[in-house]
Amino acid sequence: MAVSRLINIVEYIANIPYYNVVGNVERRIIYISNRDGIRRAWIYDPAENKTYPITKHPSILVATPRHSESNTIIYTYDVAHGKELHRLCIVDIEEGVENCLEDLDPMRIFSLVWNGITLALVGSTSEALYLIIIREGHAVRKRRLDFFIEVSDIYGEHVVGHGMLAGNPRSSELFIYNIDNDEFKAFTPRQGSINENPVFCNDKLLFESNYEDMDAKRLYTIDLWLTSEPEKLIFKYDDYSDFDPVEHIYYDCIGDKTYVVAKKNGKTKVFVNGRLVPTPIGSIGRLGVLGNKIYYSASSLVEPYQIYYSTSNNFDVVLPNPLPDDIKNSLGDKYFVKIRSTGQVDVPTYIIESRKTGKPGPTIVYVHGGPWAEIMDTWSPIIASLVAAGYHVVAPNYRGSTGYGEKYRLLDIGDPGGGDLEDIISVAKYAVEIGLASSVAIVGYSYGGYMTYLATTRYPELWRAGVAGAGIVDWLEQYMLSDALFRRFIEMLFNGYKPELLRERSPINHADKLSCPLCIIHASNDTRTPLKPVMRFMEKLIEKQKIFEAHIYPGLGHMLTTTDDLLKYIVPILVFLQKTLERLGETKDSKKDW
Ligand code: 4NP
Repeated sequence: MAVSRLINIVEYIANIPYYNVVGNVERRIIYISNRDGIRRAWIYDPAENKTYPITKHPSILVATPRHSESNTIIYTYDVAHGKELHRLCIVDIEEGVENCLEDLDPMRIFSLVWNGITLALVGSTSEALYLIIIREGHAVRKRRLDFFIEVSDIYGEHVVGHGMLAGNPRSSELFIYNIDNDEFKAFTPRQGSINENPVFCNDKLLFESNYEDMDAKRLYTIDLWLTSEPEKLIFKYDDYSDFDPVEHIYYDCIGDKTYVVAKKNGKTKVFVNGRLVPTPIGSIGRLGVLGNKIYYSASSLVEPYQIYYSTSNNFDVVLPNPLPDDIKNSLGDKYFVKIRSTGQVDVPTYIIESRKTGKPGPTIVYVHGGPWAEIMDTWSPIIASLVAAGYHVVAPNYRGSTGYGEKYRLLDIGDPGGGDLEDIISVAKYAVEIGLASSVAIVGYSYGGYMTYLATTRYPELWRAGVAGAGIVDWLEQYMLSDALFRRFIEMLFNGYKPELLRERSPINHADKLSCPLCIIHASNDTRTPLKPVMRFMEKLIEKQKIFEAHIYPGLGHMLTTTDDLLKYIVPILVFLQKTLERLGETKDSKKDW
């Protein structure tokens, strides 16, 4: 494909907006979208059938009020050009007025709840993690934390959430924090179990837990003093238990109804009191509930996000996002398979075949980040661009991914760059064996960029090319450069601070084995995966006369919050693959000619 045509397609796809419903205020739905090229919060007003943006700055986290009639939202934005130092702003939706909080020093805010009066957040500085409570623009509590937590709901004087309160990266405990007397109470139904995201549900807390079944999280209620035995949520309709979900994207109580978005094999279903609600195919995020209508955004790997509503017997689109026929027709067939890897592990994998190439054809193993995340059946501009450009895409949910039970997710603790890498290698070999792939290249961002560096240096014979965006090359240096949150994160992932393991699992110590062309994409203000170690990695590649190109972006960080930023990632990938794979032709031996 001519590069000019390729860039047209990629620009078109990157400009398709995403829609993510985050909740509702009275009479209006709040969603996050990049419709005008910048990630902002938007309103959809069903009474007027109108939609408009409400946040001024590129918006990272957006909190709608909980348990209140307030018509305000709170959001965070980055004041440091991608370094993820956040400020808070409050928007009055009725008045259309925005005020930003000047009092709090900018910090990395990664969890936020708001009830119209009180705001609870968890943030990180380079020194420590903090739980901070804000009222009328001032911090009334600032509590230093020795462990990682997230807040999930607030009601009156009480904030609830979960975290690593027992100091064990394989467990997660619930907590309830009383703002008035600054008291923190933790709870687990069974030591070593994972308990998450409690929300206030009438006079109880509703939460997700694997304490009775390691392989699937169930929903439970418990009294507000965290003293009773948890009660498993049993719905009077069987639809929910027939679906037998593994995890939940969303659950909440509104009036006498319980709303649930449940997930299995990367797809979701919506239930009200356990009864299945009709929804389109693919996957759905959080809900906004207005009267008898449920609003949500839905998408699939081959269909962009659209906002829909459902009632108990039908659904309809309210914000459409149609694809032109030529792109739609190129996107091809997707399927879900479990691919056998080492150690009896079956790797749940989405495969999307491009209609622009034959079989076998050039294939990309696309590795998601996280690592505690997953490739679901949801729209991804990078995957869609690759498929539209004529590559088959194989997207493995390697061990450590979410969505397949906690036992599977926890397999990477103490072993990042071990079993997960073997899964990626198994999946690449499988793509060749089944006649899908004539050659394989690997592409990934963040932890996916780490996997790319590691795969191409540890298994150089397998790959035709690799593209690492915002990747990790040196865990030891990364740890030194990290703030409190990411130091905790690395300790969780490696099951403690283990310098020897950090060294062994770092691609920089295997750079001499690289043998395929590599494309490095990195932002200079990235504070999650800092550029400095990547510069040293590049020095090594130059010293060893390896073939690589680098796209280093000043003034940009880890989060790609505008369409232009997204294109800075996608365009170099597509051009590099085009030139690398085309120049090499389809035979493995021609690799040396590059
Ligand atoms: P991401 O990758 O979650 O995919 O953005 C990571 C970034 C940093 C770390 C781990 C994963 N870290 O441990 O520092």
